[in-house]
Amino acid sequence: MRKYIVGNWKMNGTSNDLQEISAIAALATQYPAVDIAICLPATLIARAASLVPGFAIGGQDCHQQASGAHTGCISAPMLVDAGARLTIIGHSERRADQYETDANICAKAMAAHDAGLRAIVCVGETLTQRDAGKAIEIVLGQLESSLPDEADGDWLSVAYEPVWAIGTGRIPDESDVAEMHFAIRKHIISRFGSDGEAIRILYGGSMNGENASILLAIPNVDGGLIGGASLGAVKFEPIIDAAA
Ligand code: PGA
Repeated sequence: MRKYIVGNWKMNGTSNDLQEISAIAALATQYPAVDIAICLPATLIARAASLVPGFAIGGQDCHQQASGAHTGCISAPMLVDAGARLTIIGHSERRADQYETDANICAKAMAAHDAGLRAIVCVGETLTQRDAGKAIEIVLGQLESSLPDEADGDWLSVAYEPVWAIGTGRIPDESDVAEMHFAIRKHIISRFGSDGEAIRILYGGSMNGENASILLAIPNVDGGLIGGASLGAVKFEPIIDAAA
């Protein structure tokens, strides 16, 4: 399976950062064996997509409906219109800050699919849940309710992002990542049959140039969703290099 390395810029980036996006896109051409994308703030998508037309630009969310009275929201067809090829769905920051539920996330994933976008559906436990020994149960529950009934690896990826590892510099033990990714693989194969074998499972949460080669070598870790370390080509490159 080709590794999938996706940057998540979150609420970072203005026109001053277009040069950095060009640099990342130029870098990507040096790694043809890796699928690389960056998910930008909505305000940058159209400019970035026309600046680097050969490179995959994504959004970070979409509404479940195609249009309508939803002030402040952006639909999947709008992302496509702006030049996006993918979107993140159900990031833990949106589950927490925007109160997104598994049902919302499932509907958004289907909206992304219907518009022709690839989707990366995020799941992950809090530290309290992990300490209580419930990490796998929580994540499998999230998958059960946030993945649509039909999916395949052409459009869907799953990102396992332990909430306590995001932006903290802490990562789980390798054995915990392996155990979780194996459990996710089993779940998606039981749901989607052989299509589940081709759905990429990304790890996210403090992945950086130092730990990427260890994380990306763990079985069933098919790529990474990277926040802080994706904001510049210099920091992003060692992760892409580790994937290659
Ligand atoms: P981080 O963020 O790499 O900055 O920890 C990852 C994410 O939230 O997708």
